[in-house]
Amino acid sequence: MSHLFVCTHTNASGKPACGRRGSEALIRSVQRILIERGAGSVFVTPCGCLGPCFDGPNAVVYPDGVWYGGLDEADAEAIVEHLLAGVVYNAKRVDPPGS
Ligand code: FES
Repeated sequence: MSHLFVCTHTNASGKPACGRRGSEALIRSVQRILIERGAGSVFVTPCGCLGPCFDGPNAVVYPDGVWYGGLDEADAEAIVEHLLAGVVYNAKRVDPPGS
């Protein structure tokens, strides 16, 4: 089972907030694709600030612990490939904060 957390925070104390830069649209697209594929073992959860606001919109896949940054709606298909097949989307992969 994979779990995608996508930052939808809208007020990042003066920093760019993922929720104002397309993360909701990304979630909608990911969920639409998952439904089309009949995927029932994946969770998609909007969440608060993940930390690296300037790199957003940000998301993280668990249990893999893979972080993504600079995401937009066009990345939904590749994110779904990670969730369903474990294929890491290297074009948007970023180091975890503090690593
Ligand atoms: S607002 Fe998304 S990581 Fe901070």
